[in-house]
Amino acid sequence: MNWLDTTRALPSPCFVVDENLLRANLELFDRVQQEAGVQVLLALKGFATYHVFPLVGRYLAGITASSLNEARLGAEEMKKEVHLYSPAYRPDEIDTLLKLGSHITFNSLNEWRRYATKAQEAGVSAGLRINPEYSPVKTDLYNPCARGSRLGVRLEDLKQSEVGQTEKLDGLHVHNLCESNHEALATTLEILATKFDRYLKRASWLNLGGGHLMTSDNYDVNTAIASLKEIRGLFPHLKIYLEPGSAIAWRTGALVATVLDVVETSEYPVALLDTSFATHMPDCLEMPYRPAIESELEEKSDGGVTYRLGGASCLAGDQVGLYHFPAPLEPGQRLIFLDMAHYTMVKTNTFNGVGLPAIAIIRESGKVEVVKQFDYDSFKSRL
Ligand SMILES: Cc1ncc(COP(=O)(O)O)c(C=O)c1O
Repeated sequence: MNWLDTTRALPSPCFVVDENLLRANLELFDRVQQEAGVQVLLALKGFATYHVFPLVGRYLAGITASSLNEARLGAEEMKKEVHLYSPAYRPDEIDTLLKLGSHITFNSLNEWRRYATKAQEAGVSAGLRINPEYSPVKTDLYNPCARGSRLGVRLEDLKQSEVGQTEKLDGLHVHNLCESNHEALATTLEILATKFDRYLKRASWLNLGGGHLMTSDNYDVNTAIASLKEIRGLFPHLKIYLEPGSAIAWRTGALVATVLDVVETSEYPVALLDTSFATHMPDCLEMPYRPAIESELEEKSDGGVTYRLGGASCLAGDQVGLYHFPAPLEPGQRLIFLDMAHYTMVKTNTFNGVGLPAIAIIRESGKVEVVKQFDYDSFKSRL
């Protein structure tokens, strides 16, 4: 895919999502659904570009929502299963949520006591998020099982309650992975099958959360399918769900940006852009990571020029680098940030009044459609 050619006529900055790349990811998840006998949901927190929901809905069972807004978006735009999970529900929203959702997961035994009967009476399948006290994630910011985690109920607390014993528990939900591989999934399943077997024997579903980076090159999908089949063999009555976000939109989109100026500094020259890491690609600063650019050189070569790239906000740290380019950068030149579909569009903000990037979709037919452009009202209406 040559993003630069395809996106030449688009406004800048602009997110671009390619439906054919997305379809390839969805086909892989569909294979997992068919071969492992599981259901896959799109986690809207990671990717909620509803303009492509008709395509996503052709392959996946539905969506998982973390809020009323996401639940409405999923229900209205995909019209398939809506699963709900939030660390705590608002009393003024629970009735509407129960009208939208097919499944709801509670984060604590308190929340279970508050709402589970109401959910079950409304015909919504009610589950509990458990904390398996295992995660391969090394960064605490992304580790749901870090010490003192507020996410999910630990086995020792669950055992003290009647939930899943005399009180009917429809499902168990676990989310302990983040950009993880097949080995982490296998370990998680082993822990669940040994520690939580008495609950799994009585539940009717198990949701394995997100973080399964099946569409990346390092993931052995066949091993994951074998692990999923194994747990299905142990608990054949269980319906198993996965709810990835990142992996669905992995490498399906780019962010088109333009160089506005180049300034010399006491270190490397900095190219100032019409996009911002702080407002359009916040994970670059939060994680942190350095996004790849289509035209960059992998290593500095003879004649190559090294830059830091500076964002459009005045935050001193709104910059990323270093990058090597084959020739000096000039104002007006386009740069294409790669792999920018997941956890970008859902996290943008208008700090400094920086305008939001437009959104374009490359349809399966190859037609490029600009589906959103933002103006002053998008900024003002949030203040
Ligand atoms: C409960 C839950 N489900 C699913 C996901 C999606 O995870 P990912 O985008 O890493 O696949 C997350 C991400 O934080 C989550 O918290």
